[in-house]
Amino acid sequence: MDSLLIKGGVPLHGDVTISGSKNAALPIMAATLLTPEPCVIRRVPDLSDTRFMLQILASLGARVSMRGDAVRVCAEKLNPVGNYDLIRKMRGSICILGPLLARQRQATVSLPGGCVIGPRPIDLHLKGLRTLGARVAIESGYIHAKAPRLVGAEVFLGGRSGPTVLGTANLLMAATLTEGVTTIESAACEPEIADLAHFLNKMGARIAGAGSPTITVNGVQALHGTDHELIPDRIEAATFAIAAAATNGEVTLLGSRPDHMSAVMDKLQEAGVSIKRRGFTLTVRRGGRLRPVDITTQPYAGFPTDVQAQMMALMALTPGLSIITERIYESRFMHVSELARLGAEISIEGASAIVKGVSRLSGAPIMASDLRASAALVIGGMAAAGTTRINRIYHLDRGYEKIDVKLRRLGARIRRVEE
Ligand code: EPU
Repeated sequence: MDSLLIKGGVPLHGDVTISGSKNAALPIMAATLLTPEPCVIRRVPDLSDTRFMLQILASLGARVSMRGDAVRVCAEKLNPVGNYDLIRKMRGSICILGPLLARQRQATVSLPGGCVIGPRPIDLHLKGLRTLGARVAIESGYIHAKAPRLVGAEVFLGGRSGPTVLGTANLLMAATLTEGVTTIESAACEPEIADLAHFLNKMGARIAGAGSPTITVNGVQALHGTDHELIPDRIEAATFAIAAAATNGEVTLLGSRPDHMSAVMDKLQEAGVSIKRRGFTLTVRRGGRLRPVDITTQPYAGFPTDVQAQMMALMALTPGLSIITERIYESRFMHVSELARLGAEISIEGASAIVKGVSRLSGAPIMASDLRASAALVIGGMAAAGTTRINRIYHLDRGYEKIDVKLRRLGARIRRVEE
């Protein structure tokens, strides 16, 4: 297992190119199962999660290849069952359920369990598919879905914490090959859903309203192959922007989508960070003294839960009191105890973290717990005086393409070592 060794206190400077979005890549790769024709997806980030998804598609019988950042998938013939050990390993594999059901009229996918950031139920995914006519049973840890016939319907997908992103993706994909019209109300509005709908429409689907809470899908008989470039990863971009501010540096994000990052940019500016925007380029610099901000995570276009931990690392170094409230997941505060090892002063009260900014963090050995918590620890380590060793960084490799290489190019003193 690898660790990251960081010598902190070096401001980041330079340009970084933003990779394609992980959370757009996973459902779009799964959507290639909807057609027997070849699809090409470009700007696919090289991550353990995207590699897993390729292996899952291959285990289902698809021919897959990856050249540079272009992935080609041809699901001409599918096996009735895939490799369940693989499917079980990755939570995002739930998004093969909708396409398999639509294409083969049956699917078996392992039931994702809870995880370190809280329970991850899939009741809304199943509700959606059942409303289209699927019979769904859960047995021995697997979801078995069957649908001799799928018929369009009206589905309300709102849950306790708001809409569901992958639930919307699953239903959207299943509805493309369904008789009649499906209307999804309280659909997730994330840019990754709009990108998936864009991909599906290029395959011949008839989807309107994606990116808004009401999506309409006119079912078609078959979909065809296509070529698509993924949107940039707004969470990776936000992570580099926060790292620039935390290390008192200046970083230019190339190939980003500032229009997908309004909530994050707004909070950074409120905190005193200077952001200059030119087309798809953002230049981020700590303007002067940072100010504390209060943040509540929300579904898009609100502040993303996937940036909560990184923002907390920045607020840990911002004089004054910040209150960060997590509304999407029950226990996404695993980074708090590790940031405390670096000297941060953070207490948890219910769904809120009260962050009392300190003037200095100092390096320490710490442990990564989940993907975004790991990113927060990297930011904390780069801003801290002295050396930080982060163990269990395989979490980072799930979602950040070559993060150590990209940070080194920006001047960070960071290297990968064997644990
Ligand atoms: N929920 C339900 N029932 C369901 C589905 C979800 O109650 O059937 C609840 C969840 O418990 C949670 C909330 O709804 O409280 C939102 O969950 P959602 O379904 O939107 O999450 P997801 O689709 O499983 C995706 C991203 C996550 C990101 C969330 C929220 C992918 C592969 N994953 O997960 O990304 O946090 O949306 O934006 O797209 C990450 O990249 O680090 C990550 C965790």
